[in-house]
Amino acid sequence: MTRLTASDVVAGYGAVEILHGVSVEAGDGEVTCIFGPNGCGKSTLLGAIAGTVDVWAGEIDLDGEKLTGRPAHAVLRSGLALMPQGGGIFPQLSVRENLRVGGHTLADRHLLEERIGELVAEFPRLGERMSVMAGNLSGGEQMMLAIARALIVKPRFILFDEPSAGLSPKLAAEALDRVAVLAGRGVGVLMVEQNIREALRVADRIYVLVGGRNRFAGRPEDIANGRQLMEIYLGAAAEGHDTNREGEMK
Ligand SMILES: Nc1ncnc2c1ncn2[C@@H]1O[C@H](COP(=O)(O)OP(=O)(O)OP(=O)(O)O)[C@@H](O)[C@H]1O
Ligand SMILES: [Mg+2]
Repeated sequence: MTRLTASDVVAGYGAVEILHGVSVEAGDGEVTCIFGPNGCGKSTLLGAIAGTVDVWAGEIDLDGEKLTGRPAHAVLRSGLALMPQGGGIFPQLSVRENLRVGGHTLADRHLLEERIGELVAEFPRLGERMSVMAGNLSGGEQMMLAIARALIVKPRFILFDEPSAGLSPKLAAEALDRVAVLAGRGVGVLMVEQNIREALRVADRIYVLVGGRNRFAGRPEDIANGRQLMEIYLGAAAEGHDTNREGEMK
């Protein structure tokens, strides 16, 4: 059983503290989803876990292995990958080159090409576009490339920052289905989403962050609809769901 734990994470940029002690837990085979208003620190939290944002205090732990303070490439080697907000693909590089960049921590060239082959089998549309510059792909194809690129190292755990952003309703549902399939295979998924309806469909556990603090933790069935989630954002429905309470997520 793989378990990712972020405990009392404090992080920010320069002198500005953004996360004031946030805690989340996520297990393998599950989709754990983080919601919250714009600017509340969702991406900062994923960055803190993945090693792209400095952690000022608190701990990040993957299966008992301490990730806190490790640089991003070391975190990736430990089996935790991040698909950043917007996908983070290089528009001037081809699809193949983008996949190779995603696998740069793999020591073995043959292994890298083998993994690219496996991903092409899984994402046939990308396979047809291997020499195309990523910037010339459609929005849906770019998102698939971003997802595929994060998978190239076969992570045990993957962080997705808004995998459905900017996609049509149909493609958004497809992207989140991909995420659910990964969890079904036993990968741990911690995901940030703004598409509340689709995300609630695939989520097993949910967190709400507001103003760099935990506001709510629970299961999708605790939330009636997107409107109730919005009320939680605003503080109206948060009582009794304080995540700092002992045993809440057990
Ligand atoms: N590199 C940075 N340097 C300085 N401030 C930053 C940086 N990145 C984010 N911030 C600030 O940190 C705060 C939290 O940003 P963050 O991107 O984590 O929020 P978010 O919840 O992911 O928002 P969104 O829903 O818009 O993606 C915001 O006030 C933002 O302006
Ligand atoms: Mg964000």
